[in-house]
Amino acid sequence: MFQKATIAEQLDRWRKLLRFVRIYGPGRTLYKAAGRMRLRVPQLGRTRGTNIGLIGCGQFAFATIGYYLQRYFRRGILACYDVDEQATRTLARSLRVLRACSSVEELFETPELGLVYIASDHASHADYAARALDRGLDVYVEKPIAVTEEQLLTLLRARVRSVGRLFAGYNRPFSKAICILRSLTKVDLSGGITLGCFIVGHRLGPEHWYRRPEQGTRVCGNIGHWLDLFVHMLCWRSLPDKLDIAITWADYEERDDNICIAIRSDRGDLFSVILTSRNEPFEGINETINFQHGDTTARIDDFRRMTVWQAAKLKKYRFWPKDVGHREAIGQPFALLPGRAWHEVELSTLLMLHITEMVRLGEQQSTFSFAQEWTRIEAAIDEGVGRPSPTCNSRSH
Ligand SMILES: NC(=O)c1ccc[n+]([C@@H]2O[C@H](COP(=O)([O-])OP(=O)(O)OC[C@H]3O[C@@H](n4cnc5c(N)ncnc54)[C@H](O)[C@@H]3O)[C@@H](O)[C@H]2O)c1
Repeated sequence: MFQKATIAEQLDRWRKLLRFVRIYGPGRTLYKAAGRMRLRVPQLGRTRGTNIGLIGCGQFAFATIGYYLQRYFRRGILACYDVDEQATRTLARSLRVLRACSSVEELFETPELGLVYIASDHASHADYAARALDRGLDVYVEKPIAVTEEQLLTLLRARVRSVGRLFAGYNRPFSKAICILRSLTKVDLSGGITLGCFIVGHRLGPEHWYRRPEQGTRVCGNIGHWLDLFVHMLCWRSLPDKLDIAITWADYEERDDNICIAIRSDRGDLFSVILTSRNEPFEGINETINFQHGDTTARIDDFRRMTVWQAAKLKKYRFWPKDVGHREAIGQPFALLPGRAWHEVELSTLLMLHITEMVRLGEQQSTFSFAQEWTRIEAAIDEGVGRPSPTCNSRSH
């Protein structure tokens, strides 16, 4: 039965709205609120002719992809599709999408389609992305790019065959904090990298689709971001090979949440991530990152502030609106300069799938080798596309 919000609940809604304006700025807050209520957002200025399709019409597609495409890149959306007909229809109406499709085939057959953004459930990402690539389209696929090794192979084979370009929605490496930190950090080739991530996530009930084993659990849903950032930062120096992985969780029955993962590498690197969700964070997800390498120590406070220490030098940064890198990540297809090395995403996905399997099986210790895993996957890609295996590691990324 419909229940009226109490005065306290109504006050909390207003508080949240004001807090979000302070964190995300008014424009993004408007899209976030409109996305929840499926309201029409006012169109400011003209958008360019569009060739963009959107698969998955949920909150992220509306409030993040829709916002940045329309407000920053001035691109309209040509066609959209969601398995939930109401989601398709309401997003299409609110964001003035030209064609609300009733099947993904209808979307793929839309004349003029050139680029597809995929923000559907995790288990469908790789298949949609591979089908779009096989049609020669450019593809931006949200994280995770795959939740099983089979899906990953399907996608990577399609990438090899296709003339289309493939981009991933792992956005943290595109945040201002990480880009500035990269430019300040003097790489010490013999030095280890320490990265610690403390993530306060949304409280998701056991029924939430992120938690389902076939969707890759919260390891693919959230922890993949931090494994990907770790791989990205390791590549600033150059990768180690072997990793020792240890995992512990607060509750064996809920192993993908309130979890702590620790990794050490054969080059002295250390990584830890804690995902905690014991209550629902009022301001949304909150991320604290600590980093140390060479003479650089840094702390990133929810991608809103960063402090960097280098010997006697101390630098402080503020990022408003909060910048987790969504804008630059979503803009990858329009960037003039080559973006992030795709191979980083391949390797971080292999590591994520390995850890997902540990969590599924309840394994607390294991080892992982980037070289071994990649050699195996590369051979399987080559076999699948009928390409002779390279005699040395000559694949270009
Ligand atoms: N990069 C980031 O920071 C970030 C943040 C949040 C969400 N995301 C990603 O965005 C995607 C969507 O998440 P969300 O928060 O919008 O969730 P959501 O539940 O609001 O939306 C998911 C939508 O996908 C639709 N869907 C489910 N299965 C489908 C299928 N097979 N084909 C087409 N549509 C399907 C659902 O009906 C729903 O409308 C996920 O991949 C998620 O990981 C990324």
